[in-house]
Amino acid sequence: MERTLAIIKPDAVRNNNIGNIIAMIQAAGFKVLGCKLTRISKEQAGEFYAVHKERPFYGELVNFMSSGPIVPIALEKENAIADYRTLIGATDPAEAAEGTIRKNYATSKGENAVHGSDSVENGRNEIAFFFAESELIANSK
Ligand code: CDP
Ligand code: MG
Repeated sequence: MERTLAIIKPDAVRNNNIGNIIAMIQAAGFKVLGCKLTRISKEQAGEFYAVHKERPFYGELVNFMSSGPIVPIALEKENAIADYRTLIGATDPAEAAEGTIRKNYATSKGENAVHGSDSVENGRNEIAFFFAESELIANSK
């Protein structure tokens, strides 16, 4: 079993799409291990996206991710990392395939409804950013 971290981003929370997005995730066979409505400071958003620090969109991304409530969700499934990336679609909704979460609910390339981990190792670290292991084990297996 593999784990990945999804985040429903502030645009999708503002647009009342929490339920729609979780429905798509569950219909695709992912098990929800942990889920919370929370928000992060600019400092925390900067830390979460530190890998993008030198990119031109970093400041905007940090402002956006700290602009309102978000829903981090720890997910489990066989092949979770790749399967969840397929489910969300391309970063830019204009390039996202039909039937993907970003095609359905993203606003723009920056405000694109959901986050997804890009590797098993990053998934583990990103889940630990939002959840203690003790919050997840009750729901695993
Ligand atoms: O989220 P994903 O892994 O698909 O894309 P990324 O390249 O890891 O970028 C992280 C996030 O930065 C994206 O989801 C967008 O919100 C934002 N971004 C942006 O605003 N402009 C870009 N040219 C690329 C990414
Ligand atoms: Mg990424």
